[in-house]
Amino acid sequence: MDTQIKKVLELARAKINSAKVVKDLDQAYIEIFGKDGLMTVLTKQLSNLPQKDRPKTGTLINQLKKEIEERLKKKRSSLTARRSLPSIDITAPGKKQEIGHLHLVSQAIEETVKIFSRLGFSLQSYPEVDWDWYAFGSLNMPKNHPARDDWETFFVKSEINPKYGSQVLTPHTSNGQVREMERVKIPPVRMLNISRCYRRQIDVSHTPMFHQFEGLLIDEDVSISHLKGTFDYFTTNFFGPSRTTRLRPHHFRFTEPSFEVDVTCGVCQGLGCRLCKAGWLELGGAGMVHPKVLSAGEIDPTRYKGFAFGWGIERTIAMKTNIPDIRFFYQNDIRFLEQF
Ligand code: PHE
Repeated sequence: MDTQIKKVLELARAKINSAKVVKDLDQAYIEIFGKDGLMTVLTKQLSNLPQKDRPKTGTLINQLKKEIEERLKKKRSSLTARRSLPSIDITAPGKKQEIGHLHLVSQAIEETVKIFSRLGFSLQSYPEVDWDWYAFGSLNMPKNHPARDDWETFFVKSEINPKYGSQVLTPHTSNGQVREMERVKIPPVRMLNISRCYRRQIDVSHTPMFHQFEGLLIDEDVSISHLKGTFDYFTTNFFGPSRTTRLRPHHFRFTEPSFEVDVTCGVCQGLGCRLCKAGWLELGGAGMVHPKVLSAGEIDPTRYKGFAFGWGIERTIAMKTNIPDIRFFYQNDIRFLEQF
C-alpha cells in the first residue's frame, strides 16, 4: 500500500505541474478525485486491508489527500494571478499628467512687467556684463569713490577701454539708466529694466546672483509725488490693497534727493513684529535723477527731470509670501518650488 500511495502522489504531482491553464487543472482534479480517479481507487483499496492495518494506512491516505489539495490550491492561485496580469481595469481612474510651472521669480517678473506696463513703462534689456562707465562712472560715482564699496562688485578681467573703463558683472540695474537715455535721446523716457545682478554677498536676504528691476521716468515737470504715486500703484497691485509705502531719506550718488522705500509688513500689517522694523520692510532705493546723470546721458537737466527706482525681485517675493530665507529660491528643491 505504501508504494501505491507514493505512486499516486507522484502521478498527481505530475498532473498538477503540467497544467498550463485553469481548465487543465479542473481536468487534473477529475483525474485525481473523480469517480475513477487515482485517490478514489486508492481509498477503495482500504477495505481490502486487514482490520489492524487500516487506521495507519487511512491516516497516510488522508495526509496524501491534504497534500494534493494543497498543491491544487497553490497551482490554481498562481494560474489565475498570471492570467489577470495583462488585463486592464478600464474603470480605474486615469493617472494625472504632471505639468510644471514657471519658477516663482519668473512669475513675479511677469507680474511686475504687467503692472508697470499699465503705467506706460516698457521693458528694456541691458547687458549683465557692462562697462564701469555705465555701472558707476555715468552715475556720478568717480573712480575710487567710497560710495562704490556699497556695491560688492565682481570685476571681470578685461582690457581697459579709455572711455568706458574696465568691465564688471552688473551689481545693479542702474547701468540701464544712461544706456536708455542714449537709446531714446529725446524724452519722455519710461523704462523698466529687469536683469540679473551680481554681488559678493550670501546670507538669508542675499544671494550672489539675484534679479533687480529698475524704473526710469524722464519728462518735463516730474516731481516726487509722481514717484510716490508710482510706488503706491505698484504696491497695491503687487502686494494687495492693505499695504502702503513710505519714503525715507537716504543717499545715492545718482539721485538727489534720494530715498529708501519701505512697505508695510505683511505679517503684522504695520504694527511691528520680529520680521520687520517697527511695522515697515525695506523695499529698495529711489530718488530724483541727479542732473549729472542726465548730462551723462546727454539730456538737458535744465529742461527735463526724472525719477528712478530699483529693487530686488527675490526680496519683493519674500516680502509678499513671507519666505524667511531667499537662498531657498535657488536650491532647486522641488518641495519648495511646487508650492508656488
Ligand atoms: N541701484 C540702487 C541699488 O542697487 C537702487 C536705486 C535705483 C536707487 C535707482 C536709486 C535709484 O541699491
